[in-house]
Amino acid sequence: MCGIVGYVGERDAVPVLLEGLRRLEYRGYDSAGIAVQTPDGLGWRKSVGRLTELEQALAANELHGRPGIGHTRWATHGEPSTTNSHPHLDGTGRIAVVHNGIIENYQALRDALGACGHTFQSDTDTEVLPHLIEAELAQGAPDSETALRQALQQARGAYALGVLFADQPDTVYAARLGSPLIVGIGDGEYFIASDVPAIVKHIREVIYLNDGEIAVLTPDGVTVKNLEGEVIEHKRHPVAIAPEAAERAGFETFMLKEIHEQPRVLRSLLESHLTDTDRVHIPDIGFSDDYFQLLRRIMIVSCGTAYHAAMYGKFLLEHLTGLAVETDLGSEFRYRSPRIERDTLFVAVSQSGETADTLASLRLAREMKCKVCSICNVVGSSLVRESDSILYTEAGPEIGVASTKAYTAQLLAFALFSIHVGRARGELSDARAAALVKALAAVPDAIHYVLERADRIRAIADKHHDGPSALYLGRRFNYPTALEGALKNKEISYQHAEGYAAGEMKHGPIALINEYMPVICVCTQTDDEVYDKMISNVREVEARHGRIIALATDGDRQVADLAEDIIYVPPISEEFSPLVNVVALQLLAYYAAQARGTDIDKPRNLAKSVTVE
Ligand code: M6R
Repeated sequence: MCGIVGYVGERDAVPVLLEGLRRLEYRGYDSAGIAVQTPDGLGWRKSVGRLTELEQALAANELHGRPGIGHTRWATHGEPSTTNSHPHLDGTGRIAVVHNGIIENYQALRDALGACGHTFQSDTDTEVLPHLIEAELAQGAPDSETALRQALQQARGAYALGVLFADQPDTVYAARLGSPLIVGIGDGEYFIASDVPAIVKHIREVIYLNDGEIAVLTPDGVTVKNLEGEVIEHKRHPVAIAPEAAERAGFETFMLKEIHEQPRVLRSLLESHLTDTDRVHIPDIGFSDDYFQLLRRIMIVSCGTAYHAAMYGKFLLEHLTGLAVETDLGSEFRYRSPRIERDTLFVAVSQSGETADTLASLRLAREMKCKVCSICNVVGSSLVRESDSILYTEAGPEIGVASTKAYTAQLLAFALFSIHVGRARGELSDARAAALVKALAAVPDAIHYVLERADRIRAIADKHHDGPSALYLGRRFNYPTALEGALKNKEISYQHAEGYAAGEMKHGPIALINEYMPVICVCTQTDDEVYDKMISNVREVEARHGRIIALATDGDRQVADLAEDIIYVPPISEEFSPLVNVVALQLLAYYAAQARGTDIDKPRNLAKSVTVE
């Protein structure tokens, strides 16, 4: 999705904006631009493609000035083009706007402004905003700020905005409605950004703007107001992210770095949720044991990878708590007629906390008077602010577009939550809970074991990456693992991949299997019949000459005899095996993508956080 950066301070804004935009690249974009105040009015440069194109435009035609605003655009209204890139300007060239979100009534506004003589250069919804501000000033608004507020009162939809006026030195305005935007406070410098990592090395504190608020940034400080112009006191939060967290730390990509961070992330999440006596403790859960005893149903909603975590959460919660649990995709839940009562706990899962469909579903659940618990990675995100209770995944900034460490942290969060709820409901004995905690504690080392064998996985990816398609199979807790492995492969290697419940294979996808089809089978050992069933499914693939790549428990000869290639993982309890198995599939996708030469951290057409539906 689009990224916004703004700067007010003593420095030349141009390099500061470019650096901030570089750190927002992971969000996905297809054009970029900046605008700054210069002694001669506003100056701006825009370009299509990557930031290097913008840098070339700036090298060919230098620009300096302060303050400034910058933008990376992910096209929605109008193709990626220089004209459609932001900043957009009013008819006089004295008001520049960068925007993330969608102005839903832009056509009506554009028609009305057009009838008053305004002409538009672009196909975007955004361009109406500087023209609306211009119109308000022309109609007598006493100052820029009032004109901005009056313009925003007419806009419907979602926005995060940065606004620069040629006639108002040293000032950047920011506004938020439904799209993420933060204000960063440094030493005599002030910033706006779509997220903290973009500006983390410059700031000490953050203000998380709320919907319907405008921030005025000047060298003297930041004032936040509502659309009526009333000042709003805002808490300043210390920055919780270390600047190095937004660096690649010697890895060739952020994704590879984040894959390798998983043992540390999970160990730390585990430690922060275990008591001295190794009992699960979720300090901020906000619901009493009585609440969980009376609870009847849980509804989990999310999108993409977070939806696979939700599926795992459902299986585990059903297994350990005896509750009825349902899942849905955010984009489906919000448009069906869900029958959820107030005694249902609604659980939203999201890395970013800004996914439009997940947020809309959460709001729907709130309208139905449900309590909302969110599993989320980003402090201060919209999801967090609108939930009754939060289970943070504490994975640190995830910059690679393809989610890895946030996913395994979501799985672990569900594991901790399930044990907590199972205990609260009396479904889990002390001994069983202790055994589960012990099994969980083995996960970080097991992931480490997989990471140490990355070269073997790379060799397998090199051998199989060039086919048109791949099938991923798993059962029960590892059915979501198969879906997630296939999604990772699609996202970053662009090889078509399908994830299936292995038992469902003979109801259709078995027709795809021939001697060219790689079939990735998750068949790590379990103590019960699921393993035997999975082996039967692998035999069905073998009988049709599919190319079996098996994920198996170290030393499993049965699977070794069936598979063309095998990836071993250490023995781990079935319930928690998805946390380990998926890491092998992340690496398999990673090396396939590398062999296919894709842009792994910024795969085509994808955005890191999908803030429009
Ligand atoms: O920020 P969220 O977890 O809400 O994002 C949901 C999906 O957009 C996200 O998981 C997406 O599927 C990723 N690209 C997966 O790698």
